[in-house]
Parts: sequence; C-alpha cells; structure tokens
Amino acid sequence: MSDDNHSEDQMLNTTSTEPAVTGSVSVHEETGAPAAEAGLDVSRIKQDFPILQRQIFGRRLVYLDNAATSQKPQCVIDAISDYYSGYNSNVHRGVHTLASEATSAYEDAREKIAAFINGDDPKSIIFTRNTTESINLVAHSWGRKHLFPNDEIVLTAMEHHSNIVPWQLLAKDVGCKIRVLDITDDGYLRLDQLNELLNEKTRLVALTQVSNALGTINPVRQIADAAHERGALVLVDGAQAMPHDTVDVEAMGADFFACSPHKALGPTGVGVLWARRDLLEEMDPFLGGGEMIRDVSFERSTWAAVPHKFEAGTPSIADVIGMGAAIDYLTSLGMENVRAHEQAIITYALERLRELPFISIYGPRNPEDRCGLVSFNDVDIHPHDLGTVVDRHGVAIRAGHHCAKPLMTRLGLVASARASFYVYNDMEDVDAFVDALYEARKVFGLPTT
Ligand code: ALA
Repeated sequence: MSDDNHSEDQMLNTTSTEPAVTGSVSVHEETGAPAAEAGLDVSRIKQDFPILQRQIFGRRLVYLDNAATSQKPQCVIDAISDYYSGYNSNVHRGVHTLASEATSAYEDAREKIAAFINGDDPKSIIFTRNTTESINLVAHSWGRKHLFPNDEIVLTAMEHHSNIVPWQLLAKDVGCKIRVLDITDDGYLRLDQLNELLNEKTRLVALTQVSNALGTINPVRQIADAAHERGALVLVDGAQAMPHDTVDVEAMGADFFACSPHKALGPTGVGVLWARRDLLEEMDPFLGGGEMIRDVSFERSTWAAVPHKFEAGTPSIADVIGMGAAIDYLTSLGMENVRAHEQAIITYALERLRELPFISIYGPRNPEDRCGLVSFNDVDIHPHDLGTVVDRHGVAIRAGHHCAKPLMTRLGLVASARASFYVYNDMEDVDAFVDALYEARKVFGLPTT
C-alpha cells in the first residue's frame, strides 16, 4: 500500500458513498466487499462491519484486538442467519432437500479454505473448533502413534500455549523430550541454534508462522527444510498468519498447518487443520462417535474416509458456512492488498509509538518483519490499567501475557499491552490509539514528554 493511505481520503468517512481510493474499485457480487486494485478502501470496508457503528463510553469504537479475534462483516452474519432461517439441517446424513443444501454449503466451505491456503486437496482439511484443537488432534492422533521415549520435539521460545501444552501432555504420556529454539532480545528466532537443536532424534518441529505477542514473521520454509533434512515433520501454527497474508502450505513446507478463521473475519467455533493426505490416512481418529465411522458393531468399529474420520459428531455447520463467506470476503479484498495495508498501518503505528518516550516496544524494529501488531508497555503504567483507561476512549487493546508465558519470561516481562490491526483499521485509528496513551498518562498524573 502506498503513502496515499495517509491521506485524508483514507480516513473514516461513513457518510461518503464514493470509493476512497484512486484506481479501479469493484464490488464482489456475493459478499458486497469492495475489491480495490489500488489498495483497501477502508472507509467502505468499515461500513460492512455493523459493530464498528458502536460507541464505547461515548466514543467511536477503535477495535485493536484483532489478534484475539476479528470483527465479522455483515455477509458472514448473513450467511449464518441464512443457514438457520433457510436450510438448517444436519450434514452428510439426510436425503431431504435441506440436508443436501446444508451438506453442499458445508463442503463448499471446505473447498474454499483449501484453496485459500493452497492445500490442493479439500480432503486434507479437517474442521475442528480452533487452532488449539487442531494441534491437540495432531499430538493425539499422530504423536501418540509415532513418538517414543527419547524422541524429540523442537518448539520455539515464542510459541503460544496452544503450541506448547499439547506437546507437554504428549511428552508426559510417551516419554519424548521437548527442546526449545531461543529468540534474540528483539524477537527473532535464533536460527544459529537450529543445527545444534536438530538431530536424528528430532521427530517434529512445531512453530508459529507469526508470533501473536511480538508480530515476528518467521522464516518457516528455511526451518522446514532443515527439519526435513533430518527426517522430522513440521507443524505450523498459522493462527496469526492466515488472516493477514497469502498462505501457501505447500510452499512453506508444512506437514501440518493449523489456523483459526475467527481471527480472519469468520465466526468463532470453527478451526482448521490441514495435513498431508498420506499422514491423515494413517493417523488414528481423535474423537470417536457418529459421523466418523464406516461400520460399528459391539466387537469392533472401522473408520470413515478422511476427512470425516476426524470429524466426530455434528460439526459447527453454521460457523463453517460463515467461515466460507469470510474467505470469499477476504479473497475479494485480495490478500496482497491486506498485507500491504497492514504494513502501512504498522509502519505508521511504530513511528507514532517511537515518538512517545514513555513507551517500550517489543519485537522486530523493521516493520517488514512483522504482521500488523505491536506489543508495548508504558514504563510507568501496568498494562491492565492502561487497557482499562484507553477503553474509556473507545480503544480496545489486549493486555496480559497473551497466552505466551514462556515468551514473557524470556523477555523479562510479566505482561504487555498489544495493539493488533486489521482490514477495517486506518491511520485515524492509530492516531486515536496514540491519543488515548497520552490520556492515560494524564489520568495517572504522569508527564507526557
Ligand atoms: N491467541 C489469541 C491472542 O493472541 C487469543 O490474543
């Protein structure tokens, strides 16, 4: 995205009916999302999100907690509502019209997410509840079958708890070991340690593609190549990557890829696991029950074909269909545009934060090495207090350990504040956020210079 985005035209203007970008702008037929070849048309995008009309303490909502979950456009809300009001039915079970419509919408969504992450085979997509469940599925169904005492799993120091705890549970059960790739003080992986950590005992490298707490974008392909050279598999936690940039599971060298579409404009209640089909074929089921069987008797049961072997019970049908609408919306925006937009926003946000002598910033200095998020602290105010005060100004940020306690320990922190941006945020939101940080200083009677 160019510097044009700093212009007044790009600022929130909900009364304008004209596109706020130069260049050609069209509207996606089904989602109504503005598709702008010249970058994102943020003022129009904002209009697609009903929640952004809300006032918080009398101020317009500036939502900067997108790494926790994104807001949902009207087309996603409509897709869920249309399912319940028009063709609510269980999937894969009935022969009636509603069942067939629901099944086809559910399976269409599987094809959409497969194409979105360039996993060429929709049967390699398993619907779960979230990234956490996807990783637990791999730990259970692959790990318990293939890992033995003294085998090693390599994690990184910047993992979210969802990519630590399932491996600890596995290690306790099977006696394998966990080793950790450290980070530098400015939030990059210590690639110089990789050769020393990887060896013939390494069976899996499980790493995040983008850090939820630092924003660091990791060189997944380089690490995957090093892991594969030793015969280890690679699990990529894509929760903070898939919403923000083009994802290509083949090109990154993943064997397993997990993500949470609720961070990508979709509903909560649906997660995704992509895995190499040959791995899925020989893995055992995760949960047992209806939908995942081929045959059942009291003596023995056999399993349905992949992916249904891993989708026991009635799935979150409406949410999967809503996820499909979110994928359509993002696709019509263009993920290159999304990435360029976030780059412009984070570059501006880092510039503005660096003006504030009372703010410490964590993670890579170079905005190109980050997704659109920044963790920081006011040197005098606890992040929870800071989060509470900026909320009084309509600004929603996250404060805490970001479910990455080992990372906080590594950085010598107890907690931090975090602002995370998305497609409906603009430079005016960054300014409102920085103004709120100044206001917090005043509330606590602290100097602002
Ligand atoms: N993992 C989510 C976050 O970083 C919940 O906020």
